[in-house]
Amino acid sequence: MAENLILRTERLTKAFGGLLAVNNVDIAIPKGELRAIIGPNGAGKTTFLSMVMGMLKPTAGKIYFKDKDITGLPPHKVFRLGISTTFQITSIFPDLSVYENVWVAAQSRCKGRMNPLIHHRRLKEAESKVEQILKQLNLNHVADELAGSLSHGDQRVLEICIALATSPELLLLDEPTSGMSPKEAGEMAKLIKSIRKEVNIILVEHNMDVVMEVADKITVFDKGMILAEGSPKDISSNKRVQEVYLGER
Ligand SMILES: Nc1ncnc2c1ncn2[C@@H]1O[C@H](COP(=O)(O)OP(=O)(O)OP(=O)(O)O)[C@@H](O)[C@H]1O
Ligand SMILES: [Mg+2]
Repeated sequence: MAENLILRTERLTKAFGGLLAVNNVDIAIPKGELRAIIGPNGAGKTTFLSMVMGMLKPTAGKIYFKDKDITGLPPHKVFRLGISTTFQITSIFPDLSVYENVWVAAQSRCKGRMNPLIHHRRLKEAESKVEQILKQLNLNHVADELAGSLSHGDQRVLEICIALATSPELLLLDEPTSGMSPKEAGEMAKLIKSIRKEVNIILVEHNMDVVMEVADKITVFDKGMILAEGSPKDISSNKRVQEVYLGER
C-alpha cells in the first residue's frame, strides 16, 4: 500500500454489546498531515484512538501504522513501534518535578539502559532531550517545581512533553485543551503548530478555534461513523456537520 501514509484503518469497528461505538471506519492519513477528528459527545473519537494505541481490541477491521498491521497489538508494542499519546484525563506523576516527569519518559525508550557501558552516554542524551523539550514547550522556568503544583493548563502541556520525550513518530492528542481558558487554548494551538514539524499528530478536539487553526484536514465522526471529511473551510460550511455538531457549539 501507499508508503506515504502514517496511519490507515480499514472498516475499523468496535462494538460494546449492541452499541457500535466505531462502525466501519476507513481513514487514511498521509505523513506530515495534521488530522483533526471532531464530532459530538459519544461519537466514538476516543474509542477510535484507544484502538490505535492498543488499549481496546477492535471487534473487526484493520489498523496499519506506516503499512505495518498493528491491529490488536497490546499498548506496549504499539508504543515501541512509535505511537505515543496523551489521555483525555491528566496523567502525570504529581509528586515528581516537571523535569523528572519528562526525564522518566525520555529514558524509557533508551536501548541498553541496563548496560553500564552505554548507560552513561544515553543518560546524557536523555538529559539534553528533556531540556530541549521543556524549552520548546515553555516549561523550563518551572522545571524544578512539583508537577502537581502546576496550573491545569501547564499540566496538560507537561503531558505533551512527556509524550514527546518518548520520541514518537505519531502523537495522538485527545482533547488537549479540555478545561483550559481561551488564552491557554490559544497557547496550546501555537504549541501544537510548533511540534507538528517534528511529529505526526492526530488531534481529537472540541475547541473549534483550535481545530480551525491547526488542522490540515478534518474528519467528522457521528454515531461511530464518518459523517464528513475535508479541509477546515469545507467542514465549517458543510450543512450536515452544522446540523449534527457545529450548530450545538
Ligand atoms: N468501555 C466502554 N464500555 C461501554 N461503552 C463504552 C465504553 N467506552 C465508550 N463507550 C460508549 O461508546 C460510545 C463512544 O464513546 P467515546 O468515548 O469514544 O466518544 P467520544 O467521541 O470520545 O466522546 P467525547 O467527545 O464525549 O469524549 C459512547 O456511546 C460511549 O458511551
Ligand atoms: Mg472522548
